[in-house]
Amino acid sequence: MKALKEKILSEGIAVNEDILKVDGFVNHQVDPELMKQIGEEFAAYFKDRGITKVVTIESSGIAPALMTSYALGVPMIILKKQPSKVLNENLFHTVVTSFTKGTSYELTLSQKFIDENDHVLIIDDFLANGEAATGAIRLLRKAHATVAGIGILIEKSFQPGREKLTEQGIDVYSLARIAKLGKDLIEFLPE
Ligand code: G4P
Repeated sequence: MKALKEKILSEGIAVNEDILKVDGFVNHQVDPELMKQIGEEFAAYFKDRGITKVVTIESSGIAPALMTSYALGVPMIILKKQPSKVLNENLFHTVVTSFTKGTSYELTLSQKFIDENDHVLIIDDFLANGEAATGAIRLLRKAHATVAGIGILIEKSFQPGREKLTEQGIDVYSLARIAKLGKDLIEFLPE
């Protein structure tokens, strides 16, 4: 997606060979106009999949997921990393280990929001090793829902996340696919 790639080139910072900082428009400050365009792009790509819910993982996936759900006219559900202490009944649970951050966290989904009739689109900001997306898929399978696809803003194509997901037969649509990162270097895969 041209607008996202241009924004990455003008405002993204390649910290090293592994990490791209996009704090100015995705992870800390959020660009609402860009998120609106991203939502419309995902909605156009996935429009014929019978999507009934959009699911994301807190926190940075929320903005693009909300705009996508709005464009598709369906609800958005946030998978929680910190389950509410007051509303913790009937939850599906799984543990996700992030290689990027070197941490593990519990991911939860309330059983009342997803069931076997749902066709779910997962939206997230980054795809690195794919552990977060794989955890989301595990939760959706516990709910017997169908995973209709995954929409990613920034895929680090030199890491194994995409392969892990496509091996399971899942359609991964990434708006910016990064071939290489380095100090002051951001290179995209050819379209
Ligand atoms: P993993 O398997 O290596 O853990 O990768 P995954 O794709 O699951 O990403 C784990 C977390 O690391 C995610 O954030 C993701 O957004 C973040 N991340 C991965 N690579 C990069 C990168 O190059 N730059 C930035 N800025 N973030 C990256 P999270 O834990 O879900 O946190 P949040 O930002 O959504 O709150």
